Amino acid sequence: MSYLKNKINTKVNYIEDWACFELEEVGSTNDEAKAMSKDDIDKLVVTAKRQLSGRGRRGHEWVSMEGNLFASFALKIDPRHIGVLSFIFSLSIFDMLKRFDSELDIKLKWPNDVLVYNRKISGILIEKGEGEYFIVGIGINIVNYPKNVNLKYDATCLKNINIQKDRNEILREYINILNRNLEQWKNFGFEKIKDNWLKNAKNLGQEIVVKFDNNEIKGIFIGVDENGYLLLEKNGQVEKIYAGDVFYI
Ligand code: BTN
Repeated sequence: MSYLKNKINTKVNYIEDWACFELEEVGSTNDEAKAMSKDDIDKLVVTAKRQLSGRGRRGHEWVSMEGNLFASFALKIDPRHIGVLSFIFSLSIFDMLKRFDSELDIKLKWPNDVLVYNRKISGILIEKGEGEYFIVGIGINIVNYPKNVNLKYDATCLKNINIQKDRNEILREYINILNRNLEQWKNFGFEKIKDNWLKNAKNLGQEIVVKFDNNEIKGIFIGVDENGYLLLEKNGQVEKIYAGDVFYI
C-alpha cells in the first residue's frame, strides 16, 4: 500500500504549489517525507506538532520542543545541484526573519545554520529521498529552545526576540520566500543566491575553525565555491571543505 493511502486521514493543504501534510506526532518529519517521496509527489511538505526523535547534521540530536516548527520538504533535484539546496533554504529563513523585523542581527553560518544575535534559531538537515528526491528538513525555534549548557551553540527562539507567530503562519511565509528564491536560482543560477548568502555570512574574511570527527583545521574563511564547499585559506593554500562544524574564534 502506498504511504499516502496508508495516511488516508491526513488532509492535504496546499500552500502555493506545495502539498502540505500536517501530522500529530512523528519520530522525524524527514523520515515521513522520505517515505512519502515514494508516492512521487513533487513539492511535498510534512510538518508535525510533536517530533520525538528529531535529528540534526553529523549525527546530532535536534531538540524538538512543542510549538516549534519541524518541516521536511521533498523535492526533485538533479544530484549535481545538491550543494545549492542548503544555501537556498537557509537564505530563505534569513529573508523571512528580515521581513518580520528588518533591524534584527541575523547571520548565516556555513553550511546552513541561521544565527540571531549569535544564537542558533534554526537548523537544516538534507537527506536523500526516493529516486531523484531530496529531503530538506528545517527546524525553527518559535516558542522555546534548549538551554542545556552542553550544547555546541547557544540557542534562541522567535518569542525571545519579540516575534509572535505560530507554526502555520511561519510555514506560509517561509514557502512564499522559498519559492521566490527557488525561482531565482532556476532562472539565474547559483551566483546571486551565493552572493546574498555571503553578504550575510558570519565572519567572512576572518579566522574560523572547522571541526571534524577526529581533527580540526583553522584558517581564513574566504568564501564558498560553485558547489557550496567552504573555502578556507591556510598558509597561502585554499582548502575546499565539504562537511564539518564551524566555530568562530
Ligand atoms: C542541524 O542544525 O543540525 C539540523 C537540524 C534539523 C532539524 C529538522 S526539524 C525537521 C527535520 N526533522 C528532523 O529530524 N530534523 C529536521
